[in-house]
Amino acid sequence: MKTKVKLCIIGSGRAGMIHARNFHYKIPQAEVIAISDMCVETAKSASVELDGIPYYCDYLEAIEKSGANAVVIATPTKYHCEIAVAAAKRGLHIFCEKPMAMDTYECEQMIRVAKENNVILQIGFMRRSFKDFIHAKEMIDSGAIGKIVTIRSLTRGPSTPHEWMYDIRKSNGPLAEVNSHDIDALRWFSESEPESVYALGGNYRCPDAKNKYPDFYDTVVMNIKMKNGVIGCNMAMMLVWRY
Ligand SMILES: NC(=O)c1ccc[n+]([C@@H]2O[C@H](COP(=O)([O-])OP(=O)(O)OC[C@H]3O[C@@H](n4cnc5c(N)ncnc54)[C@H](O)[C@@H]3O)[C@@H](O)[C@H]2O)c1
Repeated sequence: MKTKVKLCIIGSGRAGMIHARNFHYKIPQAEVIAISDMCVETAKSASVELDGIPYYCDYLEAIEKSGANAVVIATPTKYHCEIAVAAAKRGLHIFCEKPMAMDTYECEQMIRVAKENNVILQIGFMRRSFKDFIHAKEMIDSGAIGKIVTIRSLTRGPSTPHEWMYDIRKSNGPLAEVNSHDIDALRWFSESEPESVYALGGNYRCPDAKNKYPDFYDTVVMNIKMKNGVIGCNMAMMLVWRY
């Protein structure tokens, strides 16, 4: 690639700063030219860490004024769709963190607007780039382990969830924040789409959160049948967060 991708990172919390540092220090084909975070202190400190690049508190202003030709969206899930749509409509390519959005209506809207504006829309399912997962996929494809019948996975959220992940209006909880990686791997490995899903979950380890977030669940078990007959079983847990 002759010209560098000019990136604006939208949401400079935990995931946003991982992307920002990687692009800033390790990817010569990319240049982080702006940061946007609705929290001014967070935006400012990200800017300082990234050698004083401009920061914006309003993502729309960042999209319109920063001169970026691509965005990384790493805000809470609730905002993914509106930011992706705004970026696509202004011709910016999009890397959006998982889970893609809050529901299928939002996902379909993001895909449609990206297509209409001829921009790339990629979702941050990084397992597809992990060498162990790629190796497993190669083994499956080569027939080395025979015909796949079941896929079982167990995922533990590696870090303490932020409070917004407990709020069902901003996130769909562990099924979205954690299991979405397993669902994506299941789709990838089985090369099929879900036909039926059955999930059980509950709040077993975060009693303190029950009053404020009665819908929150920290542990979930999910069974999926794919259209091609493969069955998947996945369990996910979030680490405990306390007030
Ligand atoms: N791929 C992965 O494994 C992985 C890991 C962690 C997080 N994530 C995803 O990344 C996203 C962010 O998670 P996080 O852990 O970094 O959360 P976080 O709370 O650490 O960071 C989110 C940031 O977004 C900012 N923000 C909120 N609304 C905004 C808006 N409208 N405009 C601009 N900034 C806004 C917040 O102030 C905060 O600084 C989520 O979708 C999460 O699921 C993915």
